Amino acid sequence: MSELEALHEQIRVCPLCRLSESRKHAVPGDGSPNAAIMLVGEAPGFHENEQGRPFVGAAGRFLEQLLASINLSRDQVFITNIVKCRPPDNRDPRQDEIEACSGYLERQIELVAPKLIVTLGRFSMQLAYQGVTISKVHGQPKRVDDIVYLPMFHPAAALHQSRYRSLIEQDFAKIPEILSGLQSVGNGSGGETPPEQLSLF
Ligand code: URA
Repeated sequence: MSELEALHEQIRVCPLCRLSESRKHAVPGDGSPNAAIMLVGEAPGFHENEQGRPFVGAAGRFLEQLLASINLSRDQVFITNIVKCRPPDNRDPRQDEIEACSGYLERQIELVAPKLIVTLGRFSMQLAYQGVTISKVHGQPKRVDDIVYLPMFHPAAALHQSRYRSLIEQDFAKIPEILSGLQSVGNGSGGETPPEQLSLF
């Protein structure tokens, strides 16, 4: 069993916060264990809690369309959430629940080692941006250590309010260019783009 699979087994039986009492299935995350892109949502909802997989409801279908729009499928990326168990009635995750779960996400990031983390919604946005609103920073890549974070509205927001739909689509369309800029830095092939010329960041 890989270290990532072992971590996911640990998450499935996690007792660290109150959400473990009401969950049906914890939702560690899934996708490619070597993905260059990781997508981090908020928390499992009804369908995710039933199936133990992230983004399998209506928001997930929209996310799959967004991925397809840049020629990606969900098994080419890694998808997870800030908290791994469903908050009752889909309420917002609480600060102590986010903190209890944070070590799991940190370890997933170490093990998958993505180049780009797309944060979906205001909770995961805080991995890179604090003290700002998502309306101000969505679509703006930010490098933190070796990883570039790209904040976006949550796909569920687009299902409820159509004005978010085109914003998410526009932000998603930036991914290929950001990724190709990152992959050309220091890949040893010569002719790389020096980091200082990556004006995106
Ligand atoms: N919304 C999320 O943030 N995560 C899921 O897994 C499903 C819906």
